[in-house]
Amino acid sequence: MPSPATPATPTTPTTPTTPTTPTTPTTVSGLLRSIAAVGRDRVRGGFSRPVFSSAEMDLRSWFVEQAEERGLEVVTDSNGIIWAWWDTASGVRQDAVVTGSHLDSVPGGGEYDGPLGVASALVAVDILRARGTSLERPLAIAVFPEEEGSRFGIACLGSRLLTGAIDADSARRLTDADGTTYADAAASQGQDPGLIGVDARTLAQLGVFVELHVEQGRGLIDLDQPVAIGSSILGHGRWKLSVGGQGNHAGTTLMTDRRDPVVAAAKMIVSIREIARTHPGARATVGRLQPVPGGTNVIASRVDLWIDVRHPDDAVTAAVVEAIRARTEVQAAEEGCTALLTLESLSPTVHFDVGLGGRLQELIPAAPLLHTGAGHDSGILSTHIPTAMLFVRNPTGISHSPEEFVEDDDAEAGAVALADSLAGLLS
Ligand code: GLV
Ligand code: MN
Ligand code: MN
Repeated sequence: MPSPATPATPTTPTTPTTPTTPTTPTTVSGLLRSIAAVGRDRVRGGFSRPVFSSAEMDLRSWFVEQAEERGLEVVTDSNGIIWAWWDTASGVRQDAVVTGSHLDSVPGGGEYDGPLGVASALVAVDILRARGTSLERPLAIAVFPEEEGSRFGIACLGSRLLTGAIDADSARRLTDADGTTYADAAASQGQDPGLIGVDARTLAQLGVFVELHVEQGRGLIDLDQPVAIGSSILGHGRWKLSVGGQGNHAGTTLMTDRRDPVVAAAKMIVSIREIARTHPGARATVGRLQPVPGGTNVIASRVDLWIDVRHPDDAVTAAVVEAIRARTEVQAAEEGCTALLTLESLSPTVHFDVGLGGRLQELIPAAPLLHTGAGHDSGILSTHIPTAMLFVRNPTGISHSPEEFVEDDDAEAGAVALADSLAGLLS
């Protein structure tokens, strides 16, 4: 088990050490096993590692330890992104080749979504060192906070702050389910929330970003390949639907006298599925629903539900959402309730950089191209620097679930593909 969480020190580099052979496992599967007890969720199953929780902070400490063992210089920036640098002889941090991923998880998530990319990056450094690679450009491993948006609602919050895709004031005001603000949560882990926001200095150091990730669907099963190169990310967004009604007593309120938002929400959820099904290629999900106040013998006064909508064509996503808005307003009125739909975040469809993708195809020619329906920090960074992704086969085809899986051999093949890609880009 890693040691207890150490508060991050924004913008302060740790003392660089001489490159050494790590004393801990240097296989991806070994690294993942060494953190397999962190954030296990006994209630939901799988792992719950929300940003700034003790589990996520333990993983950050683990990463820092691993990076320092490899002689990388670790800096936690003002947005809580950890950067582990392997510098060139000149020490100039410019046009860097960046890899990495995230360590936070969805509630009850799998073992690989995020940590696979971080562990593979560490192993790729070992492989490059063992090959005696000399760097023409610096290499950095990045660990992004709140990629899942499972605590504060906005996916890829760290990379959005870095690039200015969300303004700092809005981010500071975000609250989690317990009412803790992002500003307070960041401060409780030693970060200065006054310093968050677009970070031109760090952005200027970055050249390209290659994120390795577990595949979250069945693409590589069907292609019978261990590793693919990402081609695009499906556009996606999150909306909050607040359905207001009349809170009341479950025993004394006649069925004819109720304005029950839970009943309205039940009809809405069925309609949301129907609307998505009438738009080919669309996906719409209600995965989180919160009745207020939430008592067995209480008719709720309000239900908040969150809708995730995705489609390759951003105009279709907008049309799906408008159809949902129109239908849910009518359904709310039918139950004597109100409905308010608000946008929380939007990420347009991303086509990864063609030049970088082509270069990766030369470097790892066996890997097919594959698109993904899942969101990633690489999508946010793609508006600033060329980005690319590698996907590693998931034999269950299931993700955001404890059933997500990667075979050990595929994990190691992924790290080799990443090392080959980085080597080509670094030379
Ligand atoms: C993150 O994995 C997402 O696709 O929402
Ligand atoms: Mn992920
Ligand atoms: Mn995920």
